[in-house]
Amino acid sequence: MSRKYIVGGNWKCNPATMKEANSLLKEWKKSPPLVDPSKVDVVICPPALWMSSLGESIEGLGMKTCAQNVGKNDAGAFTGEWTAANLQDLGITWTLVGHSERRTKYGEKDEDCAEKVAKCQEAGLGVILCIGETLDEREGGKTDEVNKRQLAAVLPKVKDWSKIVIAYEPVWAIGTGKVATPDQAEETQAAIRNYIKGAVSADVADKLQIQYGGSVTPDNCAELITKPNIDGFLVGGASLKPTFMDIVSTVG
Ligand code: G3P
Repeated sequence: MSRKYIVGGNWKCNPATMKEANSLLKEWKKSPPLVDPSKVDVVICPPALWMSSLGESIEGLGMKTCAQNVGKNDAGAFTGEWTAANLQDLGITWTLVGHSERRTKYGEKDEDCAEKVAKCQEAGLGVILCIGETLDEREGGKTDEVNKRQLAAVLPKVKDWSKIVIAYEPVWAIGTGKVATPDQAEETQAAIRNYIKGAVSADVADKLQIQYGGSVTPDNCAELITKPNIDGFLVGGASLKPTFMDIVSTVG
């Protein structure tokens, strides 16, 4: 089964100004070939405040706008939150859920991620579910156990698997320059797919797109993407550069 590739650019809380964001998107526009939608989907996650104003430029590049987070609540007295329905109403069709920075810096638990996924499923939103282990957990041989625990919390909430992408992002590779080796990423992502095969079905597992994230660059993406269980990337720092399009064109 050949799965379509999907590449995400997670800008996190960058760049500092809209001006810089617009000039980055203009730089990308100069880099042919632009996205080949028959081969690869590209989603860009700008800071939430800019999703609307940058949406047209992002769509103009053949890409889709993706939220970096979403509330687990419905509309109501939840100061500072936004709902899956808000995103859908805004025309945003994707969101990240469970990024390790949400888990480590903002105390998000597996159960929170599960509730967020449930709301996204209700709203028909695509979810890139981020999972991954810390260095201690990897060195302790707990990588697969951690990934399975994070997935198991979410599984009961998923009715439509076509709306789910998994991003395996080893925490020790995020922002560190220490990219997982192609074999490390492939072994872990094969185990993720195998878990889904047993817990859900072979058909869902076969169709499920699994991205790798953690220090992906134009220099290391070519070897990573050759692996059968790597269906794309979730890129942080390198997605804030003009050369992000080199990653996109390597994939697609
Ligand atoms: O969500 C992607 C991000 O966590 C990876 O960051 O800078 O290591 O590519 P980076």
